[in-house]
Amino acid sequence: MHEQVIYSARGLAKEYQSNRIVISVLKGIDLDIRRGEILSIVGHSGVGKSTLLNLLGLLDTPTSGTLHYRPRNVGNDQVDLARLSLKARARIRNQEFGFVFQFYHLLPDLSLIENVLLPAMILHGRAAYRARRKELEAKASDLLDRVGILARRDFSPNQLSGGERQRAAIARALLNDPQLVFCDEPTGNLDSVTGERIHNLILDLQKTLNVSFVLVTHDERLARLAHRRLLMQDGVFVPQAESIRSRP
Ligand SMILES: Nc1ncnc2c1ncn2[C@@H]1O[C@H](COP(=O)(O)OP(=O)(O)O)[C@@H](O)[C@H]1O
Ligand SMILES: [Mg+2]
Repeated sequence: MHEQVIYSARGLAKEYQSNRIVISVLKGIDLDIRRGEILSIVGHSGVGKSTLLNLLGLLDTPTSGTLHYRPRNVGNDQVDLARLSLKARARIRNQEFGFVFQFYHLLPDLSLIENVLLPAMILHGRAAYRARRKELEAKASDLLDRVGILARRDFSPNQLSGGERQRAAIARALLNDPQLVFCDEPTGNLDSVTGERIHNLILDLQKTLNVSFVLVTHDERLARLAHRRLLMQDGVFVPQAESIRSRP
């Protein structure tokens, strides 16, 4: 348990307002994410798991509470994310985080490798991307190879199975060498055999790349694969036997 904490949430709360009715979804979440760990978050549908991932992934902002993050390339300093400009937050999201969703979110008009390259286009901008295109394509090909679908690199996502699409989404999430990958129900749309292959892939990537994964899941087997597992109930984490496996 001596791994470095890279992300800390304290007292995180989120309310949604609709028609003057306020719905309190998250009610004081405390969470530490350590370098290179797989953390699973389980809980009933509607409890706020996706809301929490959106806050951690800087896709949305909390109503109250704090988020401190330790970027990979800024020494040991923790950054209070609320103090950053929108641009700086976007940069962290793009450089440090990867995202994998239940329904893949691949763009159908792009080939697989083009989908995988999207985060690099966003990171580098058009001119710099063009200048580094060969190198970045080699990197994308390497990732497609790692996830086992290099032979599909020029296919459209529509020509692929669900498991292959999720593999492509994982490759895309890894392109900018993130420190942390958020997965929201990554096997929720897959049959159990295909889901199991995705579990093994995540485990393998975590070991070889030392990336942290936060997995929101209904899938009991996926949750068990994590080093730690947290149960969300009524807007908070409820205490339970925490350690499932030994540390990485
Ligand atoms: N943008 C939104 N506006 C209003 N309510 C929302 C919004 N997003 C989520 N909710 C509500 O917040 C609750 C938690 O949703 P969510 O985080 O998606 O749960 P989970 O991922 O655990 O199934 C649900 O009641 C949902 O209806
Ligand atoms: Mg959800």
